[in-house]
Amino acid sequence: MTEYDTIKVERRDRVGLITLHRPEALNALNLRLMHEVVGAAEEFDRDDAVGAVVLTGSERAFAAGADIKEMQDLEFVDAYRADLFAEWDRFARLRKPVVAAVSGYALGGGCELAMMCDILLAADTAKFGQPEIKLGVIPGMGGSQRLTRAVGKAKAMELCLTGRMMDAEEAERAGLVSRIVPAADLLEEALKVAATIAAMSPIAVLAAKEAVGRAFESPLAEGLRYERRLFHAAFATADQKEGMAAFAEKRPPHFQGR
Ligand code: HXC
Repeated sequence: MTEYDTIKVERRDRVGLITLHRPEALNALNLRLMHEVVGAAEEFDRDDAVGAVVLTGSERAFAAGADIKEMQDLEFVDAYRADLFAEWDRFARLRKPVVAAVSGYALGGGCELAMMCDILLAADTAKFGQPEIKLGVIPGMGGSQRLTRAVGKAKAMELCLTGRMMDAEEAERAGLVSRIVPAADLLEEALKVAATIAAMSPIAVLAAKEAVGRAFESPLAEGLRYERRLFHAAFATADQKEGMAAFAEKRPPHFQGR
């Protein structure tokens, strides 16, 4: 089992759970945490015993952004040469679904990390924002792009230009989060959603995530064609035969990921 400094990693049946754990810094995303989250998530992605992943933080903060103290003396050439934060792209390329369970602050890189996940569940205490402008910079892990696609131009502009935070209600209304749950039930609910996904055909789950993801990257006609090809391909799987036979026979399906 790998040792981690900045996160906790557990398995709950077929669900992998990653908990950000830098309580002294409201889970600010330093480089160490980035390596650990990406490494742990990729390990779950490769593990056939895991069907979905939950990423969460603490009650007070999902993550209050990239680590400002670590970045403050950085020079352009260092950031550019190292392609700072590009490692997070690997998190966004995970193939299995990731559910973000957000309680408290999800700011800057924290909001951007939550938006890299596939389903975003918010506690009623959640607060989202892109306050980088107050630090003299701009979002650098996808905030200007993913937030705009999620909530539209007007609200994304306002959040990125003023640094204003939005609460869970506003985030749900704007389409950033799929649901709000009471803070005390957040993790349990996120694990339930992930367990539901993990009980489906693993092949169909990969395909569904891939197909929905396409909607953000391609014109509609291409996305529709892509979806139809994946749909057709599902008929090459044993899980499709099993799923439809189980329905006809009025019994639960037993998917095997084949
Ligand atoms: C480093 C941070 C931090 C951060 C909080 N802390 N956020 N350290 N980087 N992003 C530290 C504080 O310095 C403090 O440490 C401790 O966590 C508790 O925070 P407080 O400020 O004392 O808590 P509170 O008064 O409750 O205020 C909470 C807060 C505030 C509103 C969330 O901490 C805040 O504004 N944080 C910064 C948010 C932000 O600007 N995020 C964007 C970062 S830039 P000490 O040691 O003093 O107790 C970014 C760029 C992304 O994310 C683009 C590229 C990736």
